[in-house]
Order: sequence, then C-alpha cells, then structure tokens
Amino acid sequence: MTNHGSQGFRKVAHPSPMPDPERIELIRNPGFGRAFSDHMVTITWTADRGWHEMTIGPRGPLSLSPAAAVLHYAQEIFEGLKAYRTSSGEITLFRPDMNARRFALSAERLAMPALPDNLFIESVEALTSIDRAWIPDGEGSLYLRPFMIATEPFLGVRPAAEYLYVVIASAVGPYFSGGKSTITVWVSEDYTRAAKGGTGAAKCGGNYAASLTAQAVASAEGCDQVLFLDSAEHRWIEELGGMNIFLVFEDGSLQTPPIGGTILPGITRDSLIRLAREEGRVVREEPYAFDQLKADVASGRLREAFACGTAAVISPIGKLKTTDGPIVIGDGNAGEVSLALKRKLVGIQRGDVPDSFGWLHKIA
Ligand code: PLP
Ligand code: COI
Repeated sequence: MTNHGSQGFRKVAHPSPMPDPERIELIRNPGFGRAFSDHMVTITWTADRGWHEMTIGPRGPLSLSPAAAVLHYAQEIFEGLKAYRTSSGEITLFRPDMNARRFALSAERLAMPALPDNLFIESVEALTSIDRAWIPDGEGSLYLRPFMIATEPFLGVRPAAEYLYVVIASAVGPYFSGGKSTITVWVSEDYTRAAKGGTGAAKCGGNYAASLTAQAVASAEGCDQVLFLDSAEHRWIEELGGMNIFLVFEDGSLQTPPIGGTILPGITRDSLIRLAREEGRVVREEPYAFDQLKADVASGRLREAFACGTAAVISPIGKLKTTDGPIVIGDGNAGEVSLALKRKLVGIQRGDVPDSFGWLHKIA
C-alpha cells in the first residue's frame, strides 16, 4: 500500500517492521552503526527532472548498475547527525540546518547537485518521526546518515547525470566500544588526510577511504584513532580520522586548528567554540605544531586534549602515541574542562540545560 505522507513524501507501508521485543533488545546496548531502523528515505535526481520521487519506505538493498559512477570514481557524500529523546519525552535534532548547509557544500565540491536545505531537513525529520521508537532510552540516540551517490551507468570521467539521495538511521550508543573514559591516538607522521585544494573540508567517502591505512596502523598500535598532520610540512596538527581536536591549556584557554580547506568544519567544533566563549574562555582557532604540543606537554602548559564530533561527542584523549613512544596528556585521565564542556553540550542536546543558542530542532 502506498499513500502520500506528510511533508510531500510518498509513503510505502512496511510489510514487517521489527517486532517490539526484538527492537527493544537490539537497541538496549546498540554499540555504534550496526542496529539499523526499519525505514529509509530515498530521493532521485536526474538532469531533466531535478529532485523527484521523494519516498519513505522499508529500508532495504539498493539496486545499482555495476557501471554506476559512484562504484568507480567515488562520487559520494554523506552527513551524520543525531536524534535525541529529551528527559521530557520530546524528540529533537541538534542543529540540522548546519548539516544541510555542509551537505550542500560537500555536493558543490564533488560536482553533485545541491539538495535544497529544506528538503534535507524534511528528510531527516520524516525518518526520525517514523522511526522514533528506535531512539534508545538513556544515553543513546538515533544516528541519522544522509548520503548521496552518483548512480548514472557511465565510465567516462565527468560529473554524473543521475544521483540518489538516501537517509538511513541507526540506534547508537558510544562510538568507542565500552564507552571508555579516554582514548589513545596514533600520530601519523607519514600518511596525511587532505591537501590544500583537495576535498578535506567535504564530507565525502573518499576522505575516509584514504584514512583507513593510517587507521589500521593506529589499531595495530593499540590506538583508537589517528591524528593527521598537515600534508605540506607534516608539522601542524589537523584532525583525527573522524573527529576534530581541541587542546586545553593551564590558563583555561582552548585551541583548535583553523578551518582552512583541509579539515572538516565540525558542527560539534563550532558549538563548543561558542559554548566555551560564552563561559568567558579564550578559544584560539590557530595552527598548532606537533613539536609545540610536545613542548607544552613537557612544560605542563598543555593540560587536556579531546576529540569531538557527532559520533564521538567529546572523547577525552589520555595519550598520544608516535614511533618515538607515548605522550601522556595531563595525568592521562579525562580532564575537568573537557568533561564540563561535554556535560553542557550533552545537557543542551537532551533538554537538561537551557538551549540559549536555539540549537534544538523539535520533531512534531
Ligand atoms: N572531522 C571528521 C573527519 C569527521 O568525520 C567528523 C564527523 O562528522 C568531524 C570532524 C566532526 O564533525 P561533526 O561535529 O559535524 O560531527
Ligand atoms: C560523525 O561523527 O558523524 C562521523 O561521520 C564520524 C564517523 C567516525 C562516524
């Protein structure tokens, strides 16, 4: 059965959504990115018709030509945002307008058609609404993964003329298994992630594919994430494979690498800069050399470091590792400033701390 749901989506009824007891069991302790909800959104783009066939229906396999451009030249972009259930039972998204904007900028960089911001927001609202039962109680959330792929079957190298936009959702807990209190980060001194003029500021799958060898080295070294240095001088700290980085100093100030084309402009990063400044903290968006980090650890000036992102939230960094050995940050435990910022951010997202910036987007 099909009918037209709210917000202009054609609704395809799900013949067999997961039964309540199974779903409840699955999302009790979901881990990250394995427990997928019942539905998905799809919207098609063709050069002659633009965006059309807005559908919300059962999540299932996609049917693609083996010649689809995405499979050959990696014309793909994605986003990540979370839906939360607040303590008062409301369902909210956190700054989805920022994800919509970044998705459009990623599309522009990958020579893909821009999905209008309002359509992006309607799509994540529609999926959140239909799969609201998939939002775990307590500390979990529903991670929404909008993405776009080039579907045109054509092996010439040029922007494709057909695309598919999809949104899927996954009930998630902490990104790092077991919700560990600190993470260990491998500093990659040979592999880099992005170069000036490249795609570092876009959220495209290719950036992540290119990070996997370094991530595999990190894992082999017993680390959770890779820290990339800049590609020109191998000197400046940039970001981790899937998150931005902040440093906290003894005077209570913070520093994070500037947005300049080679790192992802994180929405968590932006939110934390605003929250810390609102508290009266100095936040520098300035380059920070890895040698400076070593000197600041040795002198005690650098007290804390943390990774941040939608998946990572705030993940305090206890230790860095390099080929020269470990560098312990502070006393190796989660720092006070990091934890206080995390409490504030999570408090806003869950409706427990006043949302003075107007970041929460309620789902009707
Ligand atoms: N940097 C990279 C490479 C990421 O994959 C992410 C995650 O989305 C971030 C930073 C943080 O971005 P955001 O805070 O918008 O999730
Ligand atoms: C996110 O935080 O949304 C990301 O895309 C990062 C990835 C490590 C899951």
